[in-house]
Amino acid sequence: MEILSNKNVLVTAGPTFEAIDPVRFIGNRSSGKMGLEIVHVLLDKGAKVHLILGPVGIKLPVHTNLVITKVESAEEMYCAVIKEIVNSDIGIFAAAVADYTPIEVAPQKIKKNDDTITLVLKKTKDILGEVGKNKKENQILIGFALETQNEEQNAKLKIDKKHLDFIVLNSLNDFGAGFKHDTNKIKILDKYNNLMDFELKSKSEVARDIIAYLEKYIKNTGI
Ligand code: CTP
Repeated sequence: MEILSNKNVLVTAGPTFEAIDPVRFIGNRSSGKMGLEIVHVLLDKGAKVHLILGPVGIKLPVHTNLVITKVESAEEMYCAVIKEIVNSDIGIFAAAVADYTPIEVAPQKIKKNDDTITLVLKKTKDILGEVGKNKKENQILIGFALETQNEEQNAKLKIDKKHLDFIVLNSLNDFGAGFKHDTNKIKILDKYNNLMDFELKSKSEVARDIIAYLEKYIKNTGI
């Protein structure tokens, strides 16, 4: 039997949009593609997936083992994740969550009366950080990170701080990797300090590599 068969897996994916006024927001360039490819592989392996998805413009799969909760802001994603994570054996946090959000949302569209305006932002809740703090026994948590410098050192710090089993490092330094591409180049660092460096591949192949790593991790750690 497949190791992931009937496991409950929560996946976050896509960007978050933080409202400034009724028509404007602060967002980021995450397409959600990497997260969706991971969902496809998990479903192929017989897992039950709950996808918590920020605003994306891609076609969503329909499957009996898939529930999708659509959210917009970091706060909405936080609430959806906290509600669902208690039912999950595994959490895969591929969303590009906004780190800051406007301190207040203007109730009406902001008019261009002034030459300059100032937006005051406050930190959003660290969703994965909060989940890590309350990690259940035998729960597996996987984070993603995009670092532009000291990537392995920073990844190690994140594993410790957020109580992760492993972290997938995306590189923006490699041609063809990241937000705007259908290809990606990753490294995986786990909490036992094993580091694995992968070639530049299509996002669907990268998703298969990540899930293969997860299966091996489960076998080796006996979780
Ligand atoms: N994450 C989250 N909630 C947030 C921010 C991030 O769940 N509010 C998750 C992301 O989905 C990802 C991981 O945490 O799995 C990224 O960690 P983070 O510390 O935000 O990494 P960076 O964005 O690279 O942060 P920094 O700018 O601090 O390096």
